[in-house]
Amino acid sequence: MLSPISWNDELGCVHLLDQTKLPEIEQWMDLTGVAEVAEAIRSLAVRGAPAIGIAAALGCALAAFVEDSEDPAILAAAVLAAAEELGGTRPTAVNLFWALEKMKERLETLVASQAGVKELRAGLLAEAQKIREEDIASCRAIGRFGAPLMPNEGGVITHCNAGALATGAYGTALGVIRAAVEAGKNIQVFADETRPLLQGARLTVWELMRDDIDVTLICDNMAGYVMRLGHIQACVVGADRITANGDAANKIGTYSLAVLAKRHGIPFYVAAPWSTVDMSLSDGDAIPIEQRDAKEITNPRGAVFAPKGTKVFNPAFDVTPASLISAIITDRGLVEGPDMIQGLLALSEA
Ligand code: MRU
Repeated sequence: MLSPISWNDELGCVHLLDQTKLPEIEQWMDLTGVAEVAEAIRSLAVRGAPAIGIAAALGCALAAFVEDSEDPAILAAAVLAAAEELGGTRPTAVNLFWALEKMKERLETLVASQAGVKELRAGLLAEAQKIREEDIASCRAIGRFGAPLMPNEGGVITHCNAGALATGAYGTALGVIRAAVEAGKNIQVFADETRPLLQGARLTVWELMRDDIDVTLICDNMAGYVMRLGHIQACVVGADRITANGDAANKIGTYSLAVLAKRHGIPFYVAAPWSTVDMSLSDGDAIPIEQRDAKEITNPRGAVFAPKGTKVFNPAFDVTPASLISAIITDRGLVEGPDMIQGLLALSEA
């Protein structure tokens, strides 16, 4: 099973697949410092909401191992400083802050129990490992809940990469597709290329081809035509943050896909673990949207796509309103649209 991020027991550091190099090169990295983990998140070497959360958790554990003081208070301070640094990397995916909160809570409990430096290190690593393992189990549960929603036979479109590469393993949106295929459904996946960084073309196609799942690549602007041709029976995407009313932030272009799906009467599903749900925000307008470097659009991978000095707007995410979402598929069960407030509230108490 492909897992893009884990703890390297032998070297005592964070082990991850550098996704900026895919699909040309499969290069694994061993990160031995918190600054390197932060840079891996910022540069999208590790990306996708749940995987970012796992990276941040492992980064906090790493901070405890890198700090060689024998004083538990100094070690705890190093972990808190790491959490601060990792929290400043990317603002939209709430999984990052959720995971950092979990790590800080664990640290607090350990400190309160007068843990020594050895116990602090072991406890923090165990917490980070638990976050990763629970994410893999969540993806499996999302697959189980979502597979029945997929057509027995037909096309399913997805945007960006919400696959194994974006999680501990297996994926959220691609977990639903994987589970449907494992259940014997005959699904043809259409992958939006996902401008500007091509997570669909580079990553979704790569991981589905690896699993022998039928996948066809299209440019983002072809989705409407492909729907009109009758090739798409369902849409399934991931999310970076879902608010209490069911609005969902995901990779830029997701909103356009949802509008197109509505126009064509195609169900639109959002698949995400509960760690992506932010019940503290009432609606999607409050979600911070990451703005990224203009060069990602004008000079992707060093090429020249636009004149020097071009004015650029490069939001990394958009928000799809709950009214366009047929159902949210979580690891705790389904929440059907369009009115999701009660459904999400019920699951939040589950
Ligand atoms: O900028 P990225 O590649 O981190 O964006 C990823 C997405 O938008 C995913 O769809 C989302 O994080 C869900 S991943 C299971």
